[in-house]
Amino acid sequence: MDKFIVQKSCPLKGRVKVSGAKNSCLALMAASLLTDEPIELSNVPDLVDVRTMAQVLENTGVEIDRSGPGKLRLDSARAKGLKAPYDLVRKMRASCYVLGPMTARKGKAEVSLPGGCAIGQRPIDLHLKGLSMLGAEITTSGGYIYVRAERLHGARINLAGQHGSSVGATINVLMAATLARGVTVLEGAAAEPEIIDLARMLGAMGAKVEGAGTNTITVEGVTSLGGAAHTVIPDRIEAGTFAVAAAITGGNVVIADCSPEHVQSVTDLLENLGVIIEKGRKTLLVKADGQMPSFEISTQPYPGFPTDMQAQFCALATQAEGRSVIEENIFENRTLHVPELARFGADIAVSGRKIIVRGPTYLSSAPVMASDLRASAALVLAALVADGTSEIHRIYHLDRGYEHLEIKLARIGAKIMRVSA
Ligand code: EPU
Repeated sequence: MDKFIVQKSCPLKGRVKVSGAKNSCLALMAASLLTDEPIELSNVPDLVDVRTMAQVLENTGVEIDRSGPGKLRLDSARAKGLKAPYDLVRKMRASCYVLGPMTARKGKAEVSLPGGCAIGQRPIDLHLKGLSMLGAEITTSGGYIYVRAERLHGARINLAGQHGSSVGATINVLMAATLARGVTVLEGAAAEPEIIDLARMLGAMGAKVEGAGTNTITVEGVTSLGGAAHTVIPDRIEAGTFAVAAAITGGNVVIADCSPEHVQSVTDLLENLGVIIEKGRKTLLVKADGQMPSFEISTQPYPGFPTDMQAQFCALATQAEGRSVIEENIFENRTLHVPELARFGADIAVSGRKIIVRGPTYLSSAPVMASDLRASAALVLAALVADGTSEIHRIYHLDRGYEHLEIKLARIGAKIMRVSA
């Protein structure tokens, strides 16, 4: 199992490039099941989750050609309605994205129930509700979900759950609706940039989708979809993570190949903390002196402050002057980074939905354990300002969603090294 060895590295300086968005790419790959013509994706990040999704699709007979760096060609002409097995789904919950498109095109899909995960229970009831309202028959047995449908039909579906809109349910049901007979209206839909990216590609494939990026999406079903070539949008969470890396180290970093408008809630907050942000069309300059006041944030669906940046801002709060309050509203258990940050010496505690951080604290190096993807990023950020040499274990979580993080950080001056344990 690999680990990172990280030494205090202040300030970070230079230019770092953002890769394609993991969460967009996974949906786009699954959408290839909707057509028997090839889908060509560019700006595909080299990530474990992307490889897992490729395995899930190959398992159903999709032919995948890694036609060059950052490129994937997916040909679903020979895809069959086969199983997404437990071994793959337990590694990555987005495996259940095959349910919608597979049912729509082949009339059946079988996917292992994903179970809980380190950040919360994460049920998929809204995905199933949506598919059921489109006319699919859903049964579960032996830990598997079986979905069957002759031909899906349009429906008016409210996808809002108790935590607000669901990104995954919107993706799954949107894909299914493209091939359903008649009109589907998705209310309470997620408005994340990844949904817009998916809708754009579906449009290029011949789907009739309106309203993506708002909470009401209308889909007029068509009988078949064609191929498309599509470039994955930049990863907004990776961009946000680099912005925090610059801020926490008092650095001066240009974040290139990003979409500044997708990280507005993050950069607005940093600006309020006195960090200098200069936006270009595809770049963000983040310049800080390492001094900042405390802050209060509350995670919300897009365009609100993203839950996927919560852990990184917990790390930042350890260096802010005063009492910061960080409220997690999307996932009920996304706090496993808290005791690990405390191992660096952070004054941090969980109180209900809130994480309370008092700063600035002197952090000193420690061996710590990553518990999930974004928690891993928070530990790397804390290690960059902790005196001494830290070890971050279980970085396989990080490899799921950050492309070559240690190489990118090293290029802007971080003393970080991957070691195979
Ligand atoms: N929810 C339900 N029922 C459902 C689906 C979701 O109750 O059927 C709940 C969830 O348990 C959660 C809330 O609704 O409390 C929102 O979950 P959502 O469905 O939006 O999350 P997701 O689709 O499972 C995606 C990202 C996550 C990101 C969330 C929120 C992918 C592959 N994953 O998950 O990304 O945190 O949206 O923005 O797109 C990450 O990249 O580290 C990550 C966890």
